[in-house]
Amino acid sequence: MTELVHSRADLARARSALTRTVGVVMTMGALHAGHETLIRAARDRADHVIVTVFVNPLQFGPNEDFDRYPRTLESDLEVCRQAGADLVFAPSVTDMYPGGQPAVRVNPGPLGEDLEGLSRPGFFHGVLTVVMKLLQLTRPDLTFFGEKDYQQLTLVRRMCRDLDVPVEVVGVPTVREPDGLALSSRNRYLSVPERAAALSLSRALRAGAAAAEAGGDAGAVLTAAHAVFGAEAAGARLDYLVLTDPDLAPGPVDGPARMLVAAWVGDTRLIDNAPVRLAPTS
Ligand code: PAJ
Repeated sequence: MTELVHSRADLARARSALTRTVGVVMTMGALHAGHETLIRAARDRADHVIVTVFVNPLQFGPNEDFDRYPRTLESDLEVCRQAGADLVFAPSVTDMYPGGQPAVRVNPGPLGEDLEGLSRPGFFHGVLTVVMKLLQLTRPDLTFFGEKDYQQLTLVRRMCRDLDVPVEVVGVPTVREPDGLALSSRNRYLSVPERAAALSLSRALRAGAAAAEAGGDAGAVLTAAHAVFGAEAAGARLDYLVLTDPDLAPGPVDGPARMLVAAWVGDTRLIDNAPVRLAPTS
């Protein structure tokens, strides 16, 4: 049985009945197999599973897709049921922000201004603020985040460490279509030719990983990945393509690394990332 609640009061009542370990999966809805994998991972690790469904206005810029973001609660509930969630919390904007937009927000620090934060000012302040609020409201032992949004996962981990939030943050590998496209709620915006162009992101990551496996250094890996965008310039406009430390710490990369990419395909902004193992330089 999956129970649906909308208000904080109903959530508090349902939460107080959960006596053993609680796992929380936070989402903005429009659930797909990626979200479902997070819910199943929570099911495996926790006794009770809560899914939150909330399109958070705080993390959308003025020209972004808050109004047109897909809202599909009925089918989301079905996914939650299938994946074994016990409780779904789907608050309204006023349930979440009864006093209007919060004046006090979580500051993500320097990493919040880089990569996604550079293209989307204020994005991670909005994300971490709602994540912190949802952690307070649901009080989980474990919370599950996708590697698909690698910078978000990294910042949630860092927030919980830096602010002593008593929760284990579990990262879940990216779920992809058979052709490599990372599942995303925003993929439904893509036309057929845009869907084809969107493959540039995962192809670039694969080209980079192959160059690393062949013994290439950071420069060779980046060149191989960039070549995909050079060859397929039609349709995909690169925002950034970087190779970083797995914790997204600044500085030179060596050994295990992460490659992150963001690109525009038509009016849709897509992101992806993958691990890359560089040969040690010394
Ligand atoms: P949303 O984009 O709905 O994603 C919810 C969770 O699902 C995130 O942890 C995200 O990384 C994960 N996810 C999305 N696509 C995935 C895929 N293909 N494979 C694996 N996991 C995937 O991320 C957000 O919502 C919001 O920023 C939120 C954290 C809910 C705060 O509003």
